[in-house]
Amino acid sequence: MKLTIALLAGDGIGPEVIDQAVKVSDAVAKKFNHEIEWQSALTGAAAIDAVGEPYPDETHEVCANADAVLFGAIGHPKFDNDPSAKVRPEQGLLKMRQKLGLFANVRPTFTFPSLIDKSPLKRERIEGTDLVFFRELTGGIYFGKRGREDNGDTAYDTCTYTRAEVQRIAKKGFEAAMKRSKRLCCVDKANVLESSRLWRETVQQMEKDYPEVEVSYEFVDAVAMRLVQWPKEYDVLITENMFGDILTDEASVISGSMGLMPSASVGSKVSLYEPIHGSYPQAAGKDIANPLATVLSAAMMFDDLGLAQEAQTIRDVVNKSLAEGMVTEDLADGGKAYKTSEVGDWLAKNI
Ligand code: IPM
Ligand code: MG
Repeated sequence: MKLTIALLAGDGIGPEVIDQAVKVSDAVAKKFNHEIEWQSALTGAAAIDAVGEPYPDETHEVCANADAVLFGAIGHPKFDNDPSAKVRPEQGLLKMRQKLGLFANVRPTFTFPSLIDKSPLKRERIEGTDLVFFRELTGGIYFGKRGREDNGDTAYDTCTYTRAEVQRIAKKGFEAAMKRSKRLCCVDKANVLESSRLWRETVQQMEKDYPEVEVSYEFVDAVAMRLVQWPKEYDVLITENMFGDILTDEASVISGSMGLMPSASVGSKVSLYEPIHGSYPQAAGKDIANPLATVLSAAMMFDDLGLAQEAQTIRDVVNKSLAEGMVTEDLADGGKAYKTSEVGDWLAKNI
């Protein structure tokens, strides 16, 4: 198979972890006789520095015409502490999600047997955790009307959802639940927010189309609590954009390191794959960041391209590296810590 993959390394540790995912993907492609054409393009602070825009039109062209997009990270500290900055790297990510129609952000949380004791939670609480969030990604407060009034002394952001937006993300959740353990949790704040009541009402109406799926409705604050108490009780969760942003960061550390969890953003056409972690500027250029979340994001990409064996080959070699202690410093725990690039080389070689 010939694949064209858009490669957006982005900022911070993005380029380093992306390099490893490329090595691993190329090794898999070679093993299974595929050919990958990588097309690099600019995003984030790197793009602002180069062309003054975090998601340039040329980058959009590359992404829109690719079979998939592999993405590193976005963000730079020089923008974080400057609330008056007119152009910010994160705007690039939001624009990209919107222009590519990536309305569903799929964020799994699972555990690795060899890392159970690295989790901040107790072993018996997390062993066997395997859940997945479907976070709505192109609506809600991220894209609602915002502004200032009262000479700048009052600010507002609004959370708006349409029934159709809720239906399409809920459909993804129901479909995933059908393939998994047939349990779906609708996360909302329907005791307070009107937009949440629309979510709940819409999902309730859809229940009849999926009679086998057992649906629970839980408030976001309760989910935040139960997620660290009994993560095993969850299977598929659907959330609006900002609740999902917060809960998926919380869920990602259950596995033991933030550097482990992959994600996919899907819509109607091309999909994008990226690690859940951010740009981790303190580690940029040091060759110490954990590349596994990005490597596992590439596995999700192969899966979605219909290449299940290729995806499984990547997951197997990742498990092998963890079991054999071929890990970066976040997981080394006093043992030998390998460089980002060494882990990538080892994975590619062992494929
Ligand atoms: C994420 C990130 C982004 C978000 C930021 C960088 C805009 O936190 O992908 O979760 O809030 O969606
Ligand atoms: Mg986030």
